[in-house]
Order: sequence, then structure tokens, then C-alpha cells
Amino acid sequence: MSTCCIHPSILSADFVNLQSELDRIATADAVHVDVMDNSFVPNLTLGLPIVKRIQAVSPVPLDVHLMIDDADRWAPQYAEAGAASVTFHAEAAQAPIRLARELRSAGAKAGMALRPATAVEPYLDMLGELDMVLIMTVEPGFGGQSFLESTLPKIRRTAEAVRGANLPVAIQVDGGITEETIVRAAEAGATVFVAGSSVYGTDDPAGAIAALRQAAS
Ligand code: DX5
Ligand code: ZN
Repeated sequence: MSTCCIHPSILSADFVNLQSELDRIATADAVHVDVMDNSFVPNLTLGLPIVKRIQAVSPVPLDVHLMIDDADRWAPQYAEAGAASVTFHAEAAQAPIRLARELRSAGAKAGMALRPATAVEPYLDMLGELDMVLIMTVEPGFGGQSFLESTLPKIRRTAEAVRGANLPVAIQVDGGITEETIVRAAEAGATVFVAGSSVYGTDDPAGAIAALRQAAS
């Protein structure tokens, strides 16, 4: 699979000016929207009403990352709101296969995320139910953290399993992605790259997106 996809995270954007912040990343492949509930992670961001407004004005598709408890209850509503992909955490889902199927039948791509210390192996038999696996490369909750090199073997093992099963499953990485770390993540087999501070922390988000895309290929 080609390393096409740069998904800027609006966690590092100006929340008071979201519409213009979205317009600054119009060259991205999708916008990564981090939903946090101050329970699954020790931080609080935004929820369904704001995601619906982002969906209405965004120039690019929405990639929703749910860092919330009770994913089974809430995730399908983000798919129904029109998100292109909805990613729930494996640690927060009671019935991940049923949930992935619900997301797909609501018209979204189904993603499943793993915290850095969660192994991928128990989930390999359900790869066919998923469109994307998100390997967290920092502990979820905050932007601006450093990439955890210890996640590289898991990226590699996931990529091998996806290749071995010959499935069209994207491998997303999220956390600490820069022009340097994106190279190692791509070499390990990641195909979709979330970047918050390395895009919105610069004066030129479009330039940062282009530089990340170049580095990943
Ligand atoms: C962290 C979020 C990330 C975050 C990444 O829990 O899931 O999407 O925005 O931010 P950076 O790229 O700054 O690590
Ligand atoms: Zn995220």
C-alpha cells in the first residue's frame, strides 16, 4: 500500500477559529478529529455537536479518533454524522466486531486503535472487519508528545499480518509524527500519518503537509 495519507490533527488548532483552521489544511487527505471524554484519557476536547459542524464546513473528509469509554454506544453516531472513518479504542469496546460492522453499515470506514502497551496479536483474526488499525505512537490524551520508538515492532507486525492476509487495511500512526519520525514509521509499514503539532505548530501548514508527504514516500 502506498504511503499517501497525511491527516493533520485539529487538537493543535485554534478551537475558536475552527473553520479557518480547517481551510488551512485543505491539501490534506483528511482531518483527524480527537474526541476525548476525560475518562478514557485525562483530557477533554469536543463531542458530537461540534463534529457535526466540522463535518459541515470541512474541505476534507473527517477521520474521527474516539478516545472515549463506551465506544459501542457512541461511535455509530459519528458514522451517521458523515465521518469518512471512525476509530474506536480496542480497550474501550465491549464488542469490537459488532461495532466495526455497525460503523461500516452506517457508511464509514471502521478503525480500531491500540494504546502503546496493547498488543495487536489478540485482534489479528478480526482484521477483515476493519479498514484501519491505529497504532498509537504516544500515550493518548495530549498533543506535542515524543514518538515512542518502542511501538515500531508492533507497526511492523501489524503490517506483516495485513500483507499476509492480503487485506486492504490501512495502518495509521498517531503521536509525535515529524519529518524525522515519519520516515521510521513508514519504513515499518505505516500508511496513514496523523500530525498535530508538526502541522499546526508551523506558520505554513500546507508546506508542513507537503514535507511530511515527501518524507513518508
Ligand atoms: C493524542 C491524539 C493525537 C494528537 C497528536 O492523544 O490522538 O491525534 O493530536 O498530536 P502530535 O502530532 O502533536 O503528537
Ligand atoms: Zn488522535
